[in-house]
Formats: sequence, structure tokens, C-alpha cells
Amino acid sequence: MSIVVSGIRPTGNLHLGNYFGAIKSFVRMQQEDQCFFFIADYHSLTTHPTPGDLHGNVKNVLVEFLASGLDPEKATLYIQSDVPEVAELYLMLNMNAYIGELERCTSFKEKIRTQPQNINAGLLTYPTLMASDIIIHKAHKVPVGKDQEQHLEMTRTFANRFNRLYNIDYFPEPVAYSFEQNLVKIPGLDGSLKMSKSDNENSAIFLADTAEVIRKKVMRAVTDTGPAEINQPKTQAIENLFSLMNVLSSTETYDHFNELYNTCQIRYGDMKKQLSEDVVRFVEPFSEKIKELHSNGDYLRKVIEMGAEKARISARKTISEVREIIGFKSF
Ligand code: ADP
Ligand code: TRP
Repeated sequence: MSIVVSGIRPTGNLHLGNYFGAIKSFVRMQQEDQCFFFIADYHSLTTHPTPGDLHGNVKNVLVEFLASGLDPEKATLYIQSDVPEVAELYLMLNMNAYIGELERCTSFKEKIRTQPQNINAGLLTYPTLMASDIIIHKAHKVPVGKDQEQHLEMTRTFANRFNRLYNIDYFPEPVAYSFEQNLVKIPGLDGSLKMSKSDNENSAIFLADTAEVIRKKVMRAVTDTGPAEINQPKTQAIENLFSLMNVLSSTETYDHFNELYNTCQIRYGDMKKQLSEDVVRFVEPFSEKIKELHSNGDYLRKVIEMGAEKARISARKTISEVREIIGFKSF
């Protein structure tokens, strides 16, 4: 049985990219593997949320995890900051993480570009905290979307470096994993390559969105002026709509519109209407469960207490072994 770890930062509501890139795999993997799924609230401090926003977003992710079918009896569901052992391992890993390799990380370089006014040390060491999340449970597999591949590569580097430094085969090498074989990337409705909550509200469809909101967002999705010749290659925006249709609609529907595109007969309005109905059908059961769970505080508290306890047992074991390996021993 493999050990599986993955986490999501509580920075807003979960969208279809999070679902197809990560959570769908969580739901499948909890059936067979020993799974730890957590809400990465330490990580989200890099953006300086208010206490109210932080707490509200942790609750949103917890509710949306449960609404997506994560089962607290099967998987360990917990909040990262309930397991302070993670922060201790992070400190130890930082001693063997080099500035050069951290600075070369794509997500860090991206932050320098997009938010030069807030390049804090937490952003630089984001990959060591993430590595600590993963190896604290000695994980083998990490279900994540394609954008996280480099972070996993760095996790393997830190795990191997620890093993080499102390001459011990202690941490396994974790791999980025998707139940669908290839790592998934869901595009945005705004023509961007990746659906994301951070960039543009209208680019993402959230699991909590109402039917009305979904219809509006899809109908507003970016398109182009239409194909001028047979079998014309698709622009990014159109490719995105087809990718979404590929994931959410039937094969017949996809083939139908693809044929219309290739023969220059497509009307994007019709395609979007069909896509919006398929998205509504998919999202509706989630948004209904989300509403229900939000009012069930007692249940949420119970889930989190149970998860924290199970996660800490596993984390404490690793930390006490790591302390021993490093040479923090009792007299
Ligand atoms: P966001 O980009 O909206 O801030 P996160 O970075 O919090 O989302 O992502 C949480 C999880 O969802 C990660 O495993 C990530 O790989 C996955 N994910 C996010 N967006 C997408 C997407 N558009 N396609 C596939 N997976 C995604
Ligand atoms: N970096 C991940 C993201 O942005 C979130 C994350 C933090 C994570 N720690 C993790 C994912 C450990 C998998 C395992 O989506």
C-alpha cells in the first residue's frame, strides 16, 4: 500500500482545475492507499491574509473537500497548522536547501514578476515547506496538477540529500501522480492556459457556483472571429473551450462541435450554451452539498479533530526518528 499526501492552499473556493487536477485523484486514491489530505494554511501566509479570511477559506476548502467525496473515515483530512511537526521538519530541511536552487524555482520567479512588492522568505522557501508536508508522512505519491511537477522534483532533491547526508535510506522518493495517468491541466475561460482563482475571477468555475453564475461565465468566455478555412488550427481560447468540453461533455457532443469547427460551420454561441449546460449538470450536486455542509459546524469540528490526531501520530513518529538520525538525542 502506498502512502499518499497532498494539500491545497486555502486562498478561495475550489474550482474545476483543482477538482480535475487534484481532488478527483484524492477521491479515487482514498479507496486503496493510506492517504493524508490537508489544507495548507501555513503556505497561504505568504499572501498575508486577514485572520477572518484565513479562517473562512480554511472552512471553505474543508467543506469543498467533503462535498467532493473525501471521506474522513478513509483518508486523514487535516489542517497543516494543526501539525506543528511540519514546521520543525521545514526548519531542518532549510539548512540543506540552497539559495540558488530556491531562486531558480519557476513559481518563485513568477512571483517576482507578478508581486515584486512582496517577495518574502516564505515564498523563497515554499518548496522546502512543501517537501516537509510530503516527507513528514514518508509519502510515495503526491496527486497534484501539472503545475506542481517542479515542486515535486525539488522534494525528491531534498529527500535524497537528507538520505545522503546522514547515509541512511530513510525518506522514499515521492512522485507527482494523477489517477488519470497524465498530469492534468484545465485551461481558463479567459483564454489563459491554466484555470486559476488568483488571476481572474471570470477565468474559473467554482464548485460552489450557482447555475446562473456558471451560465454567465461560460457565455462570456473568450472566443475568436471563427475559422476561415477547413481544418484551421484552433486559437488558444478556442482550444480551451474544446478542452473543457472534452472533460465535461459527452464524446458525441465534443465530436459534433469539432466537426462544425473543422467545416467552418461553428457558432460559438451554440457551443457555449451546450458547454454551460454540461458544466451546470456537473457542478450542481457539489454546490448543493457545499450549502448543506456549511451549516453543520459540529460535524466539521469532529472531522478536523479526528484528522489532526491521526496526522500528528504519523508526523511525530517521523520527527522523533529524524531527530535521532540528525543527532538530537537524549542523554
Ligand atoms: P490556483 O492556481 O487556483 O491558486 P492552487 O495552486 O491552489 O490553485 O492548486 C491546488 C491544486 O489544484 C494543485 O494540485 C494544482 O496542481 C491543482 N490545479 C490548480 N489549477 C489547476 C488547473 N487549472 N488544472 C489542473 N490542476 C490544477
Ligand atoms: N503547492 C501546492 C499548490 O499550490 C499546495 C501544496 C502545499 C501541496 N504543500 C503540498 C501539494 C504538499 C501537495 C503536497 O497547489
